[in-house]
Amino acid sequence: NKVVLAYSGGLDTSVIVRWLQDTYNCEVVTFTADIGQGEEVEPARAKAEALGVKEIYIDDLKEEFVRDYVFPMFRANTIYEGEYLLGTSIARPLIAKRLIEIANETGADAISHGATGKGNDQVRFELGAYALKPGIQVIAPWREWDLTSRETLMAYCAERDIPVDFAGSKKKSPYSMDANLLHISYEGGILEDPWAEAEDDMWRWSVSPEQAPDTPTYLELTYRGGDIVAIDGEAMSPATVLAYLNKVGGANGIGRLDIVENRYVGMKSRGCYETPGGTIMMPAHRAIESITLDREVAHLKDSLMPKYAELVYNGYWWAPERQMLQTAIDESQQFVNGDVRVKLYKGNVTVVGRRSEQSLFDESIATFEDDAGAYDQQDAEGFIKLNALRMRIAANKGRSML
Ligand code: ARG
Ligand code: SIN
Repeated sequence: NKVVLAYSGGLDTSVIVRWLQDTYNCEVVTFTADIGQGEEVEPARAKAEALGVKEIYIDDLKEEFVRDYVFPMFRANTIYEGEYLLGTSIARPLIAKRLIEIANETGADAISHGATGKGNDQVRFELGAYALKPGIQVIAPWREWDLTSRETLMAYCAERDIPVDFAGSKKKSPYSMDANLLHISYEGGILEDPWAEAEDDMWRWSVSPEQAPDTPTYLELTYRGGDIVAIDGEAMSPATVLAYLNKVGGANGIGRLDIVENRYVGMKSRGCYETPGGTIMMPAHRAIESITLDREVAHLKDSLMPKYAELVYNGYWWAPERQMLQTAIDESQQFVNGDVRVKLYKGNVTVVGRRSEQSLFDESIATFEDDAGAYDQQDAEGFIKLNALRMRIAANKGRSML
């Protein structure tokens, strides 16, 4: 009889408030989070009040989002299907957690969300909710109601006195969008034709590489335990780091992506994403790891990454196997300290320098000049011969590939 709703303050979730009240005759608690989507969250309060909501939660989760979700994921160099930096995927477990915490605080027995029955988001919200509160009820209006077109939705608003200006003064975007500090996404509309190029005015966070400045921008990123803690010598909180990289990256045309991806529910879908900060962090983190991680640790980590990415994409953040992998990944980051210098230029991120007090790079061994006996080249002969042994035996036994 009480349900906590993930409420954006937009028209769709406002309709959900009224629909839940009518259909389930229940008390609705709204939860609106600022995770860096770049829109005011405070207006959601008055809108919820106008719909008769008595318990209204509005939280600033920006720091928690970057510190406990985005950064841990970037420690693993996580990429889904070779390209997607998981901007939407990584925000869902945090929303799921807050929904359950609020359900516990308010004595609610159900949660609800505005994700459709065709997507990944429903899976992520609900797997998280069940993992954190096994007895919770889930109400997913988009899987139940018949307000499937703009017209039926508007008719419902008129009938139930829902102020249509809840849609906001801006005209409705032709895309299904989702934004947080890590990315902004666009799906649907003309993007449903995978051959059609996105219009340039769709992109909101970045200039096109063609329009980017003719001179490069350099940044010095300081890492501690695998996370960025300072930029150009200035200490910054996790959310400040990401906001800053988004700004500088976007100004240099960095982070646009246009892909067709495989959704967990089985369909392929086309999405466009802008992830300026994440697109800088990815090669920069690899660069600091390149001098501080042992080779076998680095390779093992890389081999686990696609599995970890799939867990995040499919909604298994709160599952034991994700926790297990996270523990291993975090353990690997203890020496990942130091600085990386990157150059940003017309959509490109180039690492131009890396240094660390804990660097494993040994100039005296690696040098092409005289190494004064640091490395005995004659050792290499036996190393190669023993590694060739099984192939020589096989060739001798008539298995030569020639
Ligand atoms: N396809 C991406 C993902 O599954 C983005 C989803 C965007 N969600 C949205 N509600 N518009 O992570
Ligand atoms: C949705 O269906 O609500 C958005 C797309 C997705 O979740 O994958």
